[in-house]
Amino acid sequence: MTRILGIETSCDETSAAVLEGTGDAVAQESLVILSQDVHRVFGGVVPEIASRAHLTSIVPVVDRALSEAGTTLDHLEAIAVTNTPGLVGALLVGVSYGKALAFSRDIPLLGVHHMEGHLFAAALEHRDAVPPFTALLISGGHTLLLDVEAWGKYRLLGATRDDAAGEAFDKVAKLLGLPYPGGTYIEQLAATGDPKRFKFARPMVRRNATPTDEDYYAFSFSGLKTAVLNAVRDSTNVEVDKADIARGFQDALIDTLVEKAARAAHAFSRQRVVLGGGVACNRTLAAALRTRIEPEGRTVFTPSPRLATDNAAMIARAALFHFEHGERAGLDLNAYASSPIPGLVAA
Ligand code: KG4
Ligand code: ZN
Repeated sequence: MTRILGIETSCDETSAAVLEGTGDAVAQESLVILSQDVHRVFGGVVPEIASRAHLTSIVPVVDRALSEAGTTLDHLEAIAVTNTPGLVGALLVGVSYGKALAFSRDIPLLGVHHMEGHLFAAALEHRDAVPPFTALLISGGHTLLLDVEAWGKYRLLGATRDDAAGEAFDKVAKLLGLPYPGGTYIEQLAATGDPKRFKFARPMVRRNATPTDEDYYAFSFSGLKTAVLNAVRDSTNVEVDKADIARGFQDALIDTLVEKAARAAHAFSRQRVVLGGGVACNRTLAAALRTRIEPEGRTVFTPSPRLATDNAAMIARAALFHFEHGERAGLDLNAYASSPIPGLVAA
């Protein structure tokens, strides 16, 4: 049994969690997430403000996670911290604090890739959300389609060539005058919209596509965003049209995600498809994916919203896997704005 503290500060959530377990039998002892609401005022994350807010909250957030787990620093076997990808100034707060704790208690330190954390999130709640599976990681900064043969062994099938899925939601929300971050607002508005009024082209989805095509698993959302912008400009009354535009946008984006995930699950004969990242909160997407692949005998796993969006429990969960495989970070662990997910095997 390993008890591990996870720390996450890559963007605008200060989070800490304590997990205990071995292999895939892991219990979440605590999870504290402090969201920095201040960025709503600016319509997006302001990096300098994010770093300062992490500095103010990291100590009480970690203390709270330890006390909710009924433990102390003296009873931890390891400390895990997100060190990439993300805002460097924000990441550095967690990395520095994690290093200081590990050094002062003389316990192992692990650096975790944020997207690998998202990959492990569903496993915290669903016993069967374990490899092999097809993974669709959809967040504010990334869109990754992976074939996961085993933990730590990932085949990157496709990624976005421009905007991430969450970024597209946020930008379209802004165009429609909705608050930041806009994903949930678009989903709510789209539910009331007419699906027939605005039909946007499905990006990179052709009926005659074959697996050898370069864009068979790839994503691109900037053209869709431009199509929405044009629809908004052409509208004589955006207030009246905005629910229908949101519906048209979300339908096009979801169709693309579902099509690519279904292609991957089929090509690699995976019975499970696991979603992760903030956009995995979108129930319309999960429902559409289920409708598409459940008749093929496949199961869809989504984390609950608290674990789908940024949190430290998923970071600690990914770190437990690496800890058990003997991996350790040195005190020279650094923060990086971007880097490939670890464990990539040739596609
Ligand atoms: O994973 P996450 O919390 O942070 C990053 O690592 O980026 O994802 C945040 C993203 C935002 O773009 C937000 O708009 C999106 O997740 N999101 C949603 C929904 N809830 C959050 N997108 C679509 N539908 C939702 N219900
Ligand atoms: Zn994230």
